[in-house]
Amino acid sequence: MSDLKKAMEKKKLRILYIDDDPAEVFILEETLVQAPGFAYELVHSDNLTHAFEVLKSSFFDVVLLDLGLPESTGIDTLAQFLRVHNHTAVVVITGLNDFETSISAIEKGAQDYIVKGQYEPLMLIKTIKFAIERKKWQELATRQVKLESLGSLSGGIAHEFNNILTVITGNIELSADMIPESNPVKVYLEEAGAAALRARDVVQKLLNVAQKMRASRTPIAIGPTIKDVLDLIQKDLPGSIEMCQDIRCSSEMISGDPVGINQVVMNLFTNAVHAMSDQTGVLTVSLEAIELNQPSSSRLDGPDSGNYARLVVKDTGKGIEPAIMHRLFDPYFTTKGLNEGLGMGLAVVHGIVKEHGGFIKIKSTPGKGTMAEVLLPLLKEPPARKKKALWNAGS
Ligand SMILES: Nc1ncnc2c1ncn2[C@@H]1O[C@H](COP(=O)(O)OP(=O)(O)OP(=O)(O)O)[C@@H](O)[C@H]1O
Ligand SMILES: [Mg+2]
Repeated sequence: MSDLKKAMEKKKLRILYIDDDPAEVFILEETLVQAPGFAYELVHSDNLTHAFEVLKSSFFDVVLLDLGLPESTGIDTLAQFLRVHNHTAVVVITGLNDFETSISAIEKGAQDYIVKGQYEPLMLIKTIKFAIERKKWQELATRQVKLESLGSLSGGIAHEFNNILTVITGNIELSADMIPESNPVKVYLEEAGAAALRARDVVQKLLNVAQKMRASRTPIAIGPTIKDVLDLIQKDLPGSIEMCQDIRCSSEMISGDPVGINQVVMNLFTNAVHAMSDQTGVLTVSLEAIELNQPSSSRLDGPDSGNYARLVVKDTGKGIEPAIMHRLFDPYFTTKGLNEGLGMGLAVVHGIVKEHGGFIKIKSTPGKGTMAEVLLPLLKEPPARKKKALWNAGS
């Protein structure tokens, strides 16, 4: 199969149609078949309970939701659906040709509304595609707001704490100096002093996160910058993990913040190593210059055509369940234990990549591995020949 054909295959939209009327499912399928050049995969579910099971284990671009189901009817069906699952675009399909229901569906969180018997192929496709874009935009805006508020909140709190901790550590030091070695209180003060210093380290980390979110940018050579980080972190790689590097950009420049780029590589690297921690595995890191000659199908969170540095960090670890894919970039989302992860790694990576005008995509197959792909816009035409490539809309 040619690369282009494979890319087209991958772009198939995955649609989940929830409706208990087989005749309606037939009509919808017939309508989709008639849409020219529209690649899709349709999965059918005839009740909400079954639909939730399907959504737990598979990714869908859009859900078409009938409002009259065995479990509930009317706008309640949508409310019930969104209470359990609210990260896929929803187009409500109903027999009710009722303006109030349609407005209410949109207000409750659906991306669009279609009336049974009143849709035809092009209109259906347009509705589906618009709904997907609308949902992506909403998620993006929410994520951005979360990140921005997290940045300023943690920055503000950390700053306050820093001031308080300076007073605490200063007074502990002064008091300890005034107490003779023989006094048992000295030991208590020293322990309090050590704890205050640990607290200062945590605060410093929070300040770093906040600062990274508004770091300034200068032209940097992306290849050598990434090579330097890899040389550094490779030393910490457990013996059970083999590392393959393919760093191709030698002179290509990006407008960036080297500390931020280090953080991106370190966080992706750490996640990959962690995913392979109880097994042997291969970690592949590659960097190349690419030219996207057609803009992403997703205008809102996909790249325009142009020149990019493409960084890929791939592991053969345990992979990620489809049900949590949409939460990966959320601040404080973690599946790790209390002392293993804060859930900030990917949130910070996402923030930094966006600051650089770039894009990030994570693909994973449970049990097989994960691939994080980052695109960063290049500053100018690199002299070397670039590979032409497509950026497929991935989950
Ligand atoms: N390469 C990967 N393989 C498997 N799961 C991953 C991978 N990368 C991320 N994840 C999943 O995404 C979650 C969030 O990742 P993120 O880096 O944001 O936080 P974390 O690694 O849990 O904690 P932190 O990075 O703050 O130490 C992880 O808890 C894990 O479940
Ligand atoms: Mg992490």
